[in-house]
Amino acid sequence: MADALVIVGASYAGVQLAASARELGFEAPIVLLGDERHAPYQRPPLSKGLLSGKTAADQLALRGTDFYAQQGIDLRLGTRATGVDLLSQRVHLADGSELDYGWLAFATGARCRPLAVPGADLQGVHELRTLDDALAVQAALGRSRRACVIGGGFIGLEVAAALTTAGASVTVVEGQPRLLARSFPTLMSDYVADAHRARGVALELGRGVAALLGDAQGHVASVLLDDGRQLECDLVVLGIGVLPNVELAQAAGIACDGGILVDALGRTSAPNVLAAGDVANMALPTAAAPGRARMRLESIQAANDGARAAASVLVGQPQPLTAVPWFWSDQHELKFQMAGLPAPGDQTVLRGELADDRFTLFYLREGRVAAAHSVNRPAEHMLARKLIAQGAAIPPDVLAHPASDLKPFSIPRPAG
Ligand code: NAI
Repeated sequence: MADALVIVGASYAGVQLAASARELGFEAPIVLLGDERHAPYQRPPLSKGLLSGKTAADQLALRGTDFYAQQGIDLRLGTRATGVDLLSQRVHLADGSELDYGWLAFATGARCRPLAVPGADLQGVHELRTLDDALAVQAALGRSRRACVIGGGFIGLEVAAALTTAGASVTVVEGQPRLLARSFPTLMSDYVADAHRARGVALELGRGVAALLGDAQGHVASVLLDDGRQLECDLVVLGIGVLPNVELAQAAGIACDGGILVDALGRTSAPNVLAAGDVANMALPTAAAPGRARMRLESIQAANDGARAAASVLVGQPQPLTAVPWFWSDQHELKFQMAGLPAPGDQTVLRGELADDRFTLFYLREGRVAAAHSVNRPAEHMLARKLIAQGAAIPPDVLAHPASDLKPFSIPRPAG
């Protein structure tokens, strides 16, 4: 098996890398290692449909049951890699066995950032990243009346919406003065806050958590805020960000800095070693994100596209990553779609009305469409993605006019 591709991590990036390698004609053995007991599964429903009861756990498989065998992908579940030796090109597994590789790929993802306050280990306190995490929240939800979600990012807000739909009374505690501050400008953050409040979610913004307090049985009973108030609750869900799982790569001597450092082809500092997905700190084209040479893009699209680029290296036909980053989030009946990477100094242009819950906020950079955030405007958003990819130049007054036709602007620029 000296020519094998060994992939550590069996979620979006790992599965896509294996699949793309086969599509591109990579013929050597592929071993896909996953430390969870479940076959690779879809994650978006974990913080949405699975909690609100619209989706069942057995509907989540990422690929059909026959896929791995048909593609000659040796999927090993419940299997943890514990070490990598770059010199001998060998991976050590938790059961003491070893695997030789010709190519190695890290698709180890990220884990939830822990909440470092007293009481964080009480019963009834959950994080939400894996299917097992989501099943635990789902089970707790049946017994819960008052939930507290800590963190007003995408996980926190999706969970808050799903728990509200499921009948719980929910408060979100966010440390920053506004929601989704990492992804959104103030206008969007304020819109999201109003939307959640209007649908029954209570918000505590700019508030720290001092401790989680328990009852006599060791179950969480309240959240103690940094202003001394206590929020009574019987369920706490944490959504305070993630940490990339770099330890294995770092211990092997691969360059890491806020993730495993990779180029636009997913190549790490070590020969024949690739990385993709949430763990990869990717080099970005300058036009995509001025002032930011690289970034960890925590999205399914980035995992899939990064994996496709990495697979192209395996077959000697390198195709660097060029796609416009995009992702989405469903909260209550609101579909958020985000494309491109807004940068400081971008001109923002609103098309549609916030009050209608149907609009797109466009970001113009030197007069060209660079990013777009849409709410309940899927068709317009698809067009926006094309406009971003083509760097379409649209006058702001035309963009802002809800009846103007944007399709004529979607014409590729001539080469050169
Ligand atoms: P995040 O980084 O997006 O948001 C974390 C939030 O928690 C931030 O607003 C931060 O200010 C706040 N926070 C941090 N420490 C805090 C504290 N001690 N007390 C109160 N607030 C605190 O991460 P999040 O929401 O946990 O999501 C995890 C990952 O899952 C991310 O990679 C996210 O992009 C991804 N995700 C993506 C979704 C999508 O694309 N629709 C949906 C859900 C998650």
